[in-house]
Formats: sequence, structure tokens, C-alpha cells
Amino acid sequence: MTNTTKKLYIKTYGCQMNSYDTKRMEDILRPLGYSSADEPKDADMVILNTCHIREKATDKVFSDLGRIRPLKQQREKDGGQMVLAVAGCVAQAEGDVILSRARYVDLVFGPQTYHQLPEMIAQITGAYGSKRIINTDMPVEEKFDHLPQENAVNGPSAFLSVQEGCDKFCTFCVVPYTRGSEYSRPVADILNEAKRLISSGVKDITLLGQNVNAFHGEGPDGKTWGLGRLLQELNDFQGVERLRYMTSHPNDVQDDLIAAHRDLEKVMPYLHLPVQSGSDKILKAMNRKHTAQSYLDVLARFRDARPDIVFSSDFIVGFPGETDEDFEATYNLVEKVGYGSAYSFKYSARPGTPAANMQGLVREDVKDARLARLQSLITSQSLAFNQSFIGKTIPVLFDDEGVRDGQAHGRTEHNQSIHVKAPKRVVGQILDVVVTSAGQMALHGEVKQEQNEAA
Ligand code: 5AD
Ligand code: SF4
Repeated sequence: MTNTTKKLYIKTYGCQMNSYDTKRMEDILRPLGYSSADEPKDADMVILNTCHIREKATDKVFSDLGRIRPLKQQREKDGGQMVLAVAGCVAQAEGDVILSRARYVDLVFGPQTYHQLPEMIAQITGAYGSKRIINTDMPVEEKFDHLPQENAVNGPSAFLSVQEGCDKFCTFCVVPYTRGSEYSRPVADILNEAKRLISSGVKDITLLGQNVNAFHGEGPDGKTWGLGRLLQELNDFQGVERLRYMTSHPNDVQDDLIAAHRDLEKVMPYLHLPVQSGSDKILKAMNRKHTAQSYLDVLARFRDARPDIVFSSDFIVGFPGETDEDFEATYNLVEKVGYGSAYSFKYSARPGTPAANMQGLVREDVKDARLARLQSLITSQSLAFNQSFIGKTIPVLFDDEGVRDGQAHGRTEHNQSIHVKAPKRVVGQILDVVVTSAGQMALHGEVKQEQNEAA
């Protein structure tokens, strides 16, 4: 099956779903002889796996393409070849523009067609090759059916895609257009992929979906399973120790998901549940279909079930029509919730979305000021949250060598990053760590003595 070795370089932009897709592209191309290149200049194939969610996405892709172009030309001069591909959501949304503006791009394909990579490459490089291809169909079901039954694993944490696409149509968001409508994978496929990951040493699985808690996959019993039921099944798998999922929507929180946080010891006390704004007027204009209060009620249900749960969220400031008062409502909501972490963005109009045609644009300097204020509040909350762990002993899953010698990197149950004085061999283990200090971004600690000796 394997022929001569070829080198592959994939640059991944954006969300975890893209990271997952990148890994699966590597899994697809490995049997064709492709192994990873450290730099694009050494690669027979370069793929930009792009993101379209916020502003300047397309500009970034074109500027990266501009940098790669001379490397491709050099390889061709040297008698070699470089297939240059643009994948992901920019490809899906603006494939035609890419092909016409960048004549040196060979291949453009969207997030739902990368399982066809071998055929596409054969068409470009084969005996009848040298044509350029654009493939932006949306056969999601087919993609999952054709992904390889092998997952290359590096480290003890892995993503597992269970759901893709979104039918919510928030007015600012491109996802329903780039990723298509909601699709849930059959449970049996997910469980098989989980088993493969676990047998390769994975202890921490994050179930991925654009709207992961809308998951409604066909169960092995013929019934439809929700996310809570899926977590319940995975919780019984030997070998996996930690389960997470993202990204969720407040309107899709079912009772069995709340119960999963109450009853399943492997479901981690951390939840990314974006609210976007604290103003009901703006939430309505965003077509979120929930209010600030109904979001707070959902958080309260999680907290009742799992009192130590910590939340994270996404926020958009400067959505069209957002007044000072609306922004204050967002600020107040953040104060009320007390997030462990959160991401905030300035609104940017995305082509083809309903909000792009809305009146009441907010001035850039106003957006900047609001963003700075919100981020400073969130930063102080993250810092306080992290500092609340100083002196405590907590279980850490070590996932990487540290940046510094004599250090290893790990994650806490609350998804905090932690740098620990520990030998490299701890990677892959869960050990108790005493937290010695904490900043806004990460904790620091030492492995508890008895275990350090055992480790
Ligand atoms: N402008 C700014 N932020 C956006 N997001 C999505 N679309 C936009 C946009 N047009 C943010 C949302 C979402 C996160 C992934 O990106 O907060 O939750
Ligand atoms: Fe985009 Fe809204 Fe769907 Fe999230 S729920 S992917 S923000 S449309």
C-alpha cells in the first residue's frame, strides 16, 4: 500500500474542529506514503486548513499563499513538486476566488470532502494530471463513512468529532454556510473511534461538534441518543479518565446532560457555553433564541448538579445596534457568572450573513474600548480562579514535556494549563500536584512527593 515517502505540511487555523480535520487528513494521507514535514519548503504537499469565522481570514490565507508560492516555484525549478491545497471553511466559502486570484493553487476543498483526498491528488499528479480542482460539496455523512479506521495519536488527549454543522443561524455566524446543516455520527462509529484512541493511550477525550449538545446520533439499540447518553456509555470505558465536550448551545441543554455532570465521575467540571451578549435586545438581533436570564438559569442547573463546575464563554462586542447600555448588560452578566476563562471578540461582518446588512454599526474605537474593558474583567476573573487553587492538591494529566528543562505540562480537571516540576516520564500519567503559584494563563506546581518517587 505504501509507496515512496513524501512529505506533507498542514497549517491549521481556527477551531478544534479544524485540528481534528487536520489529524484525519494526515491519517488519510499516511497510507499514500506521506509523513510530516517540519517546514513547507520540504513538502510535496502543503495544505492550508483555513478558518472563516472572523475578519481577515481570507487576507491571512492569501498572505500565507504568497509566502508559499516562491517555495513551490523553487521546488519545481529543482525538479520536484509541491501540490498546494486550500482546505477548510475559507475554501468552502470562497473557493472560486482563491482559484482565480491564486493561479498557483492546485486544489481547493471544503471541510466535507477531504475523505476524497487520494482521488483528488491522483487527478492532479497522475498520468492525466495537472488540472486544478475545486471540491466544495457537502456530503457530511459520506465523509465520516470514509475516514480511515486508524487514528494516529500523539499524547494522552484527543478530540473526537461526534457532530458537525449547525442549524441555529446566529445572524453573525458563517458556520451554517461553511459547515452545512447539523449532522450527528452514529453512536457505534463514535464508540469504535473512542476505543481506538484509548488503545493508543488516550486518557482524555473531548467530543467535538459545532453544536455538540444538539447531538442526536443513532444508537446501537435503534434509539436516538443524546449527548448525556453518549457520555454515560463512554464513562464506562476502561482506560479513559476524562471526558469533555465542546461547543455547546444554551438551548440544547437536556436533563440527561445535567445528570451526566452530576453522576459521571469522568465528566470534567468545566463547560464552554457561549452566551455572546448579556443584552436581550442584542441576543434577539443575533437570533440566539435565548435571553440572558434563561442562560443564567441553565448555568444554575449545571451548578446545582456539580457545584465545582467552572464556565467559559464567547462574547462579541460591538454587534450592530449595541449601545453602551447593552454593553453594560454584558459586563454585568460576566460579573455575575464569574468565568474561569472566556474569549471575547470585536464583531466583524461576515459576507453572506444576515448581520452583515444590519444598521447601527458600532465605531471601531468604541468596539476597542468595550473589548479592552471586558477582557480586563475576564482576565481578573481567570486570575482569581487560578489563584484559588494555590496550596491545593489536584490531579493533573500530563500531556507534554515542558518548555523548560525539568518541567512537564499538564491540564487540571478544570482545563487549566499547569507547569509542573517533574521528569519527562510523567507524560501520559495523572498525578497529584500541589499548586504553588498561579497566573492568569496558567498554574505552577510540584508533583506530590510520594508519587514523584513512584513516577
Ligand atoms: N464577529 C465576531 N466574532 C464572531 N464569532 C463568530 N462569528 C463572529 C463574527 N462575525 C465568535 C463567536 C463564536 C466564536 C467561535 O467566534 O463568539 O462563539
Ligand atoms: Fe454559529 Fe450560532 Fe451555530 Fe454557534 S450556534 S456555530 S455561533 S450559528
